[in-house]
Amino acid sequence: MTPSASSSPSRSPSPLAHPSDESPLIDIVDLWKTYRMGATEVHALRGTDLQVRDGEYVAIMGPSGSGKSTLMNLIGCLDSPTKGRYVLNGRVVSDLGEDELARIRNQEIGFVFQTFNLLARATALQNVELPLIYAGIAPSERRQRAEEALRQVDLLDRASHRPSELSGGQRQRVAIARALVTRPAILLADEPTGNLDSATSREIMILFEMLHSLGNTILVVTHEHDIAAHARRIVSIRDGRIAADERVENPTLASTTQA
Ligand SMILES: Nc1ncnc2c1ncn2[C@@H]1O[C@H](COP(=O)(O)OP(=O)(O)OP(=O)(O)O)[C@@H](O)[C@H]1O
Ligand SMILES: [Mg+2]
Repeated sequence: MTPSASSSPSRSPSPLAHPSDESPLIDIVDLWKTYRMGATEVHALRGTDLQVRDGEYVAIMGPSGSGKSTLMNLIGCLDSPTKGRYVLNGRVVSDLGEDELARIRNQEIGFVFQTFNLLARATALQNVELPLIYAGIAPSERRQRAEEALRQVDLLDRASHRPSELSGGQRQRVAIARALVTRPAILLADEPTGNLDSATSREIMILFEMLHSLGNTILVVTHEHDIAAHARRIVSIRDGRIAADERVENPTLASTTQA
C-alpha cells in the first residue's frame, strides 16, 4: 500500500480555543469514571492524570478491564466522567452537556474502532461523508472532501464499494478516512488492528505513521507490544490509573520493516 501524502490532512485551527504553545491538547486531571450496575459500582477510572501535546503519537496499553476504552471514550467525548477535569484544546469539556459534547465529538475527534463500525448499506464514499452531513456541510463540498480523505488512505478506487465488498484492512482504512474527514484535533483508535492479520495491521501502522508525520495527534489503544512500538510514547494503565509513561527511543517504522 502506498498511502498518498499529496493531500494534507493537517487540521485547520480549532474554532474552539486559542491555546498557547505551552498548553497540552489533552489535559486530564484526576479523572474518575464509576459505572453503576444496580447495587454494584465499578470504578473503571480511579484518578487518571494524562497530558498529551499537539502532534504526539501515543500508545495506551494495559490489561483487559484496566480502563483503556473507558479513558478513550471520555477523551473522545462519547461519555462524561463521574469526577475530575478534562480540558480539550483549551476547552473544559468535563462539565459540558450532551449537545455540546456531540458537537465537539463531530468536529474535534476522529474515532476508529476495532470493529470498523461502518454502515453496511452505504458505500465507502457515503460512509466517509457521514460526519460532514452531521456537520451541515453542503453536498458538493462533502463529496469532494470525502474523496480527498479516501485518496489519503489510498482507496479512492473503492469509493463505490460497500463494506462487504472490501477486505478487513480496506474497511479499517475507510473508517480512518471517515475519522479524518472533519480534520479533527485528535485521532483516537481503540484496538484498530484487533481484527486484522499482521500484514494488514502493518498497512494500518504505515498509514498512522504518515498521519503522524503530517502533524496529526494520534492515540491508539493496543494489547500488542509490536503495535505500541510504532508510537513515540507508551502510557500503561492499571486498575484505572496511569502506571507508567515512557518515551519510545527507537520507534518501529512500519514503512521500513518487512511484513
Ligand atoms: N458500560 C459499562 N457499564 C458497566 N461497567 C463497565 C462498562 N464499560 C466498562 N465497564 C467496566 O469498567 C472496567 C474497565 O473497562 P474498559 O472497557 O475500559 O477496559 P479495557 O481496558 O478497555 O479492557 P479490554 O482490554 O478488555 O478492552 C471493566 O471492569 C468493565 O467491566
Ligand atoms: Mg477496551
